[in-house]
Amino acid sequence: MTNLTTQKVLILGGSGAMGSAVARLVAAAGGDTIIVGRDEAKLAGAAVGLGSRARALVGDFAIEAEAARIYALAGRVDHVVVALSTGGSRASSIPGTDLAGFKSAHARLWASYNALHLAQRFVAPGGSIVLVSGSSGRRPTHGFGVWTTLHGGIEALARAAAVELAPIRVNVVSPGGIGMRPDRQLAAHAGTPEDVATAILALITNPAVTNAVLDVDGGERLGRWSGGARAA
Ligand SMILES: NC(=O)c1ccc[n+]([C@@H]2O[C@H](COP(=O)([O-])OP(=O)(O)OC[C@H]3O[C@@H](n4cnc5c(N)ncnc54)[C@H](OP(=O)(O)O)[C@@H]3O)[C@@H](O)[C@H]2O)c1
Repeated sequence: MTNLTTQKVLILGGSGAMGSAVARLVAAAGGDTIIVGRDEAKLAGAAVGLGSRARALVGDFAIEAEAARIYALAGRVDHVVVALSTGGSRASSIPGTDLAGFKSAHARLWASYNALHLAQRFVAPGGSIVLVSGSSGRRPTHGFGVWTTLHGGIEALARAAAVELAPIRVNVVSPGGIGMRPDRQLAAHAGTPEDVATAILALITNPAVTNAVLDVDGGERLGRWSGGARAA
C-alpha cells in the first residue's frame, strides 16, 4: 500500500484526465495534493472528493512568472507532476503547421522547462519531477510530426535535467493513445488515465528511479497504426 502521508505533490494539469487521476491516487495515499490549471471552475470540480488537505491554484504554468508564483504559493513540495495538455491544435503535421502553431503546440514543453528550471528553489532534495511525453516521441506517425518534436523534446529535457538537478529525480511517463482501440498495440486493453496515473505514482515513490522513461502504451510503438479510432 503506497503511503504518502509526509509528502506534498504539486500536479500541473490537475483538473485534466491524467492529472486528476494522479490527484485521486495521491489523496488516497494520504499525501497533500495541490492541483494547478488555468480554469478555476474546472479546478474546483476536480478538487471535490480530494479531502481537506487538497488545494487548488489557478495559473498558466507555461509562463515563467506564473510558474514562480504558483511554486511560491505551494511552498516546498516533494514531487511535481507535469500533466498539462498540448497547446494549440490536437494533431498537426509539419507541412500543415506554421511557426506560430508549432510554438503554441509546445506549451507543455515550456511548462516542463519552468518546472525544472525553478525546481532547486522549490522541490525537496530527495523529491522528484515526472513529465508526460507520448509514444509519438519515438515513433513518428504521418500527420503528427509536431507531437513527435514535442514529446521527443520533453524526453531529452528530462534526460538532461536528471543529471543537472540530482539528487532531485526526473522521470517521464510516455502514454499511448488513451481510449484508443487496442488493435493498434500488443496488449488487449485500451489505456486509461488511471493506467498512466498508476505509473506516475510508481516513479514518484521509487527512490531508485531517475532518468527513466516508462511507456504506458500497451506496446503501441511495436503494434500497427489503425488510424486512431476510439474504443467502442
Ligand atoms: N490522451 C492521450 O491519448 C494522450 C496520449 C499521449 C500523451 N498525452 C499527453 O498527456 C497529457 C495529459 O493528457 P490529458 O488527457 O490528461 O489532458 P487534459 O484532460 O486535456 O488535461 C490537461 C490539463 O492541463 C491543464 N492545463 C493546460 N495548459 C495549462 C497551462 N498552460 N497551465 C496550467 N494548466 C494547464 C488543463 O486545465 P486548463 O485548461 O483549465 O488550464 C487540464 O487540467 C497531454 O499533454 C497529452 O498530450 C495524451
